[in-house]
Amino acid sequence: MGNQSFQGQVAVVTGAGGRLCSVIARDLAKKGCRVVLLDRSSQALEPVSAGIQEDGGTCLCLACDVTDEPAMQSVADQVQKTFGPCRFLINGAGGNNNKAITSITQFHQEELSGHKPEGMTGLFDLDINVIESVIKTNTIGTFVPSRIFGKQMAAAGGGSILNFASMNSYRPLTKVLAYAMSKAAVVNMTQWLATYLAPAKIRVNAIAPGFFINERSRMILGTPEEGLTARGTNVMNHTPAGRFGNPEDLLGCVAWLLDDQAASYVTGITVPVDGGFLAHSGI
Ligand SMILES: NC(=O)c1ccc[n+]([C@@H]2O[C@H](COP(=O)([O-])OP(=O)(O)OC[C@H]3O[C@@H](n4cnc5c(N)ncnc54)[C@H](OP(=O)(O)O)[C@@H]3O)[C@@H](O)[C@H]2O)c1
Repeated sequence: MGNQSFQGQVAVVTGAGGRLCSVIARDLAKKGCRVVLLDRSSQALEPVSAGIQEDGGTCLCLACDVTDEPAMQSVADQVQKTFGPCRFLINGAGGNNNKAITSITQFHQEELSGHKPEGMTGLFDLDINVIESVIKTNTIGTFVPSRIFGKQMAAAGGGSILNFASMNSYRPLTKVLAYAMSKAAVVNMTQWLATYLAPAKIRVNAIAPGFFINERSRMILGTPEEGLTARGTNVMNHTPAGRFGNPEDLLGCVAWLLDDQAASYVTGITVPVDGGFLAHSGI
């Protein structure tokens, strides 16, 4: 247990109750970080905290909406008081909303006819408030913790921020308009912040996971065990590795990007961890 770059450092992980960041948080604790587990609800954090304690690690659970700046500021103050300044920030909180998804991939003439088939949701049906909330979660929900903890890092002499992009950051997937545009923005924001924060010795990078089954995507993609949907099969046909990702597949890349020795001159990049999905032309 323990690693020179991570030992005793404070790592704040947002979305720590979720599928990917629960595993990342536990790994950082194993590497010797004191980990702040942050999510919308503390209930989601309980099993993650129990796992870290079982491993002999140290963590603190805090519930907060990452888009709420005053609430995030008081969380940051609590982190500073309890553990000291944040050294690593993992901006994992994010995701989509099923109501922000179209059921069709392209315009259908029926959308104009007044005889739209039941269950058909097209571009013209999407609720602007839901679209806005998805964009806010993925963009402002990355910006707010980056600014607040970035200030803490700058005052302490440096740090490293890791954002979560997506395959949608490169080319939008059908049906998920708001998610796609917000994850494209994450790549842009990563470059902007990397440029701005470099004099403060803060590196900012992103990871772009391919397809990892979580609670929400299970409904859209299915699972290998229970059967894939048509979309899930399509994804699999475009994934040279021939399987969905496991959260553990991200750990090497996360550790490399955070590590100030291994990645000292790496900032502003987004690394796909996707089983080859981006490399495959589809033909
Ligand atoms: N799984 C994939 O295949 C995949 C692929 C590419 C990118 N990503 C990205 O990777 C990150 C982690 O994904 P995941 O699969 O671990 O998703 P997940 O299991 O849904 O976990 C995300 C966590 O973030 C929390 N969260 C969402 N909005 C929040 C907010 N405003 N304030 C505080 N917490 C909030 C969620 O809480 P609630 O459940 O209460 O909303 C959830 O616990 C996300 O940014 C996701 O977009 C995932």
